[in-house]
Amino acid sequence: KDERAALKDKIRRLLKEKNAVMVSHYYVHPDLQDLAEETGGIVSDSLEMARFGRDHSAQTLVVSGVRFMGETAKILSPEKTILMPDLDATCSLDLGCPIEEFSAFCDAHPDRTVVVYANTSAAVKARADWLVTSSCALDIVRALKDQGHKILWAPDRHLGDYIRRETGADMVFWNGACIVHDEFKAFELESLKKDHPNAKVLVHPESPADVIALADAVGSTSAILKAAQTLDAREFIVATDNGMMHKLRTLNPGKVFYEAPTAGNSATCKSCAHCPWMAMNGLAGVAQVLETGGNAIHVDPAIIPRARLPIDRMLAFTA
Ligand code: 13P
Ligand code: SF4
Repeated sequence: KDERAALKDKIRRLLKEKNAVMVSHYYVHPDLQDLAEETGGIVSDSLEMARFGRDHSAQTLVVSGVRFMGETAKILSPEKTILMPDLDATCSLDLGCPIEEFSAFCDAHPDRTVVVYANTSAAVKARADWLVTSSCALDIVRALKDQGHKILWAPDRHLGDYIRRETGADMVFWNGACIVHDEFKAFELESLKKDHPNAKVLVHPESPADVIALADAVGSTSAILKAAQTLDAREFIVATDNGMMHKLRTLNPGKVFYEAPTAGNSATCKSCAHCPWMAMNGLAGVAQVLETGGNAIHVDPAIIPRARLPIDRMLAFTA
């Protein structure tokens, strides 16, 4: 306990000394969420992390999350130093969408507008027309469809298929998945619903279609938070990374949140729904990178202007 307190004090001091600010995702350890907020930083979804990092005047951003979040921050602010507690914190969607194969996929569909999810490498972003996150994907694809665009979507097939069902857009998909959300199970969720008949079900759209079909609200991490605050219920079953539980519980003290089941026997799989890469972020790593300047994100300057284009479009669309 004392060690944690000492690390937090050290981070507070270093943030001031280095003119740095913390940008944390909802899935990282609660310490990194709370400390970001206490020190003038932000805890949020990936869209607002990008906007906050771009707009903040600090010279250094400490991004607690996964690598694509740090790269997006660097693309938006090449002049800033972007530090991450662990540079190996990646994402199965990013890993599953290498640029060479993705480029060939785009070449095979030259008539389609390329829409990619934020969870991708800088090189994949540089091949895209539009970037989206789960909080704006539906609106952006709907607008593109209304303008007559046919869509090439990558990499998350569940999110892509959800958007296709909702918008009716003509879409072809890359076959990627999030290893965390892909594990939620509809059959077990139905049985948990029977145990808690008054609970509302909140689902992140990276989950399989049969899980989404059981949802009372579907959306990004920030949309899930909003639904928990606005829906008329006291109990919720939540199908997203369980890092989200911290904010859900602190903002809704009178409400009860259950984790959606991820496997046949959910009793033996209590914390399956936690991203192993998000879990690589910790107080010690933040203190260390602030002290040493290590783990700085580098993005090839040659691709930054092209990679920035789809991100700027998304940020302007959602402004
Ligand atoms: P959000 O954009 O909803 O924050 O999601 C990012 C992510 O990695 C989900 O798994
Ligand atoms: Fe990627 Fe899934 Fe982890 Fe989010 S939770 S960073 S989508 S692997």
